Amino acid sequence: MSVTPLPVVIQGGMGVAVSSWWMAADVARSGHLGVVSGTALDAVLARRLQDGDPQGHARRALAHFPDQAMAQRILDKYFKEGGRDGAPYRPNPTLTVSPSTAAVELSVAGNFVEVWLAKEGHDGLVGINFLEKIQMATPTAALGAMLADVDYVLMGAGIPREIPKLLTDLAAGRPGGITIDVAGATKRYTSTVDPVEVMGEYLPQLRRPQFLAIVSLHSLASYLYRDEEIRPEGFIVEGPPAGGHSAPPRGKMQLDDDGQPVYGLRDQPDLRKIAELGLPFWLAGAYSSPEKVAEALQIGATGVQCGTIFALSTDSGLAPAVRAQLMERLTSGSLSVRNDPRASPTGFPFKVARLPGTMSQPEVYHARPRLCDLSYLRTPYERPNGTLGYRCASEPEDAYLKKGGNLEDTIGRKCLCNGLMANIGIGQERKDGYHELPAVTLGQDLDGPAALLELHPQGWTATQAVEWLMTGASDAGAGRDRSVPA
Ligand SMILES: Cc1cc2nc3c(=O)[nH]c(=O)nc-3n(C[C@H](O)[C@H](O)[C@H](O)COP(=O)(O)O)c2cc1C
Repeated sequence: MSVTPLPVVIQGGMGVAVSSWWMAADVARSGHLGVVSGTALDAVLARRLQDGDPQGHARRALAHFPDQAMAQRILDKYFKEGGRDGAPYRPNPTLTVSPSTAAVELSVAGNFVEVWLAKEGHDGLVGINFLEKIQMATPTAALGAMLADVDYVLMGAGIPREIPKLLTDLAAGRPGGITIDVAGATKRYTSTVDPVEVMGEYLPQLRRPQFLAIVSLHSLASYLYRDEEIRPEGFIVEGPPAGGHSAPPRGKMQLDDDGQPVYGLRDQPDLRKIAELGLPFWLAGAYSSPEKVAEALQIGATGVQCGTIFALSTDSGLAPAVRAQLMERLTSGSLSVRNDPRASPTGFPFKVARLPGTMSQPEVYHARPRLCDLSYLRTPYERPNGTLGYRCASEPEDAYLKKGGNLEDTIGRKCLCNGLMANIGIGQERKDGYHELPAVTLGQDLDGPAALLELHPQGWTATQAVEWLMTGASDAGAGRDRSVPA
């Protein structure tokens, strides 16, 4: 059995494509775990191809996809030499409980491309981050990532109890599936992908990646640990300040004067109990400084997972103009991030950076005609006649109500799918002239980024961020057993 060292630093998966493949590759090359975001990679690939794939990266990766006929079908449909010339992006097929062949192929290929590019030219570790809430996309996305030999799968925003088995089944070439939460369901629904059906004779031998569950409390870690079939290989323990979605506070939601959820002692994980489980664990959410790395190692953690310092790095997938605005505010000390309990249609609190011209501003939010076309965060529901429908609390209110949703749930909901695409410069430009605008997320702890800015006033690379973090590991981590059976 070979032994692979465990990384001290995990560069967190940041959607959509903020943790870019080139960022993940650089972190992996530096001996740590680089993670790409596994959210909406079907649309990311389709849109990059429609923008002409100027540097040829997506086409280079597709040229290594095991089934070249499938790769060609995707190129034929989406690739536009020279780009779109201002035309709207064509819609790509949405993922459902039983997705169409076109949707499956684009999801498998999109995830393959991102991981393949992150792994190109080195033998460092690369992971992919999924959200439990985006259930319908997970089986096909996992297959695509495994076709590119992904080393780690990470998942948060829910209870990822079925992922270990999904990865084991897919690695064995068997159909792999997960249960789908369907509102009003009178039976159990599953979404399954069959690697043999999708890849046919081109299915290579797959390797099972390690699975890290992102949890906020020790009770969830203990629950997942108890049964071998649902046990991950490790935990990332993520606290409320982390970027993106976070777990809501326990008990009845209380809001502060700024309308942000109030977290208390009951929301703090008992790290001693997590350490006692004996699996590797990393701490996330405001662990972005050498001092916090040292503290994590002293507690018995294997290391830390950081997001915000990487999202702000020069290797960020954020559109240059968005990153420049954030850096300007970080420099002047005026950057602020609000934990918005209503922004996300998932109902989970979501961090929103306050920036002019983005969805954080009420006038920008209200000026957007509601429309749901990307559909990653839709919830399936069972109609009285037993068929399935799909609804999103951010879609037009009347449509949502017709589908049995509550008006109350639509208030303040933002279209994160379109906003997150705009963050990375591939926002939709609608036929009616409306341009989708960014909805920028970031972590609430800005002390780490501010300290790093003092060292690198012109900005820092992902590698420099890792080097800085690791200055805290030199003493605390010495002699630690950093190996895991591979
Ligand atoms: C811009 C941004 C986007 C993020 N998106 C996701 C995501 O899609 N899924 C996820 O599980 N975590 C996401 N995160 C959380 C990070 O992976 C990481 O755990 C977190 O940022 C760590 O806290 P820190 O920002 O204080 O370093 C995101 C974080 C940031 C900053």
